[in-house]
Amino acid sequence: IRSSMLIDKNFTVAAVDPRVYGSFIEHLGRAVYGGIYEPGHPTADANGFRQDALEAIRALNVPIIRYPGGNFVSGYNWEDGVGPKSERKRLLELAWWTTETNEVGTNEFADWAKLAGTEVMMAVNLGTRGIDAARNLIEYCNHPSGTYWSDLRVSHGYRDPHNFKTWCLGNEMDGPWQIGAKTAYEYGRLANETAKVMRWVDPSIELVACGSSSRSMSTFAEWEATVLDLCYEQVDFLSLHAYYNNNNNNTANFLASSLDLDAFISSVASIADYIQAKKRSKKKIMLSLDEWNVWNSIGSSRADERWQIAPPEFEDVYTHADALAVGCYIITILKNADRVKMACLAQLINTIAPIMTDTGGDLWIQTTYYPFMHASNFGRGTVLLSNDQSDKYDSKDFTDVPYLESVSVYDEESGQLTIFAVNRHLEESMELNVDVRSFGNELRLIEHIVMESDDLMAANTKADPNRVLPRTGGQTTTDQGKVSAVLGRASWNVIRLQ
Ligand code: AHR
Repeated sequence: IRSSMLIDKNFTVAAVDPRVYGSFIEHLGRAVYGGIYEPGHPTADANGFRQDALEAIRALNVPIIRYPGGNFVSGYNWEDGVGPKSERKRLLELAWWTTETNEVGTNEFADWAKLAGTEVMMAVNLGTRGIDAARNLIEYCNHPSGTYWSDLRVSHGYRDPHNFKTWCLGNEMDGPWQIGAKTAYEYGRLANETAKVMRWVDPSIELVACGSSSRSMSTFAEWEATVLDLCYEQVDFLSLHAYYNNNNNNTANFLASSLDLDAFISSVASIADYIQAKKRSKKKIMLSLDEWNVWNSIGSSRADERWQIAPPEFEDVYTHADALAVGCYIITILKNADRVKMACLAQLINTIAPIMTDTGGDLWIQTTYYPFMHASNFGRGTVLLSNDQSDKYDSKDFTDVPYLESVSVYDEESGQLTIFAVNRHLEESMELNVDVRSFGNELRLIEHIVMESDDLMAANTKADPNRVLPRTGGQTTTDQGKVSAVLGRASWNVIRLQ
């Protein structure tokens, strides 16, 4: 099969906001305890942070990590997680029916984030709490000193404020499963007032209002419109959450699910613009896709036995097909770079994650790690508009699905052009011809990275951690303003040019 792209460096979608390569760590399963934090582990530092996990995370170059939840945040009293560890309470955690030891809280996570080279996207509890706890938390985190809460932070050993810049106003407040779920009206009012007061404490922050917890919620669209109508001028972002799975064993249909993500993004952007029009506002709301991933075990669990400490939860084993889907989602996020300014791969370690650890043991890397790593490292710069052509197919839920899913990012500073491409065809390789004449005749191949597998269901496991790996040496040639490549069947490709 054949495909083509026509790209011109003068026609752009938008600059890539690095925060689209964000991720998420929740107090859920073994993400925190046994993931990033495990005192006594052979690689743990004096603070209990696993260095093997830090190393794997640093290689992803993640600029921002959402914390502490997720559903967890809607029942979380942040005060329980600060101060001397010996005095911290063990409490029932009602989002996931576990026991929370509170060994890791805001300050520890801030310390860890520094080591990981990432910013923190903090979430406030708008489930069981509200304006008062949120204003105290931001005073604790961001106010220099001289007040009760800021001095409390200083007394906890943190002289300098954390200066967290990005804050989520609650989490999935539309979901009946959420502790303290709300109607759109209840939430919109609360988000507006909480945002207003948080900005009074620190005017430099950016705020994210909760959109729907998925496109399939019955309240979707109406929720976004009502919430934004009530808090438009106080917030900067509206959130989207999107999880997909291949539980029907229909990989052609599964790989087309990025079309759903694309439609979701355009719908939310349209709703935001409708409210902008209604309000005659000069401000445009940007989108924060602050939870996205493949989640095959969705809905399947809360710990079988209640009140365990950090039981394994949602430890999905990701296949080659899952990595291709992740590649398609990343490409979709980039194609929407004018509107999606933040996105968080949910999550980062152990819980629906690209990185796995054994408590007390080794770490291994899942298939989904690689497309994310490639995009985060090479997909910086400006997304170029592209005229893409390829044969198409129909699947169970989608029509006219192009076999080629692709995007290009140009980094003017380094002069590098990177093409990310998935060949969705499960049997046939694809010829890709790219017209790059606006770059002159000088463009040369740096490398063509490929991820393919003889088995779509192949996965990396503790026993066989290197089953599916990317390699260089894909087939690409350049000649007189043309790039010609062969994309193997069901493959993820990164074509790096300069
Ligand atoms: O990421 C796992 C969970 O998915 C989060 O806690 C919640 O926000 C979403 O439903």
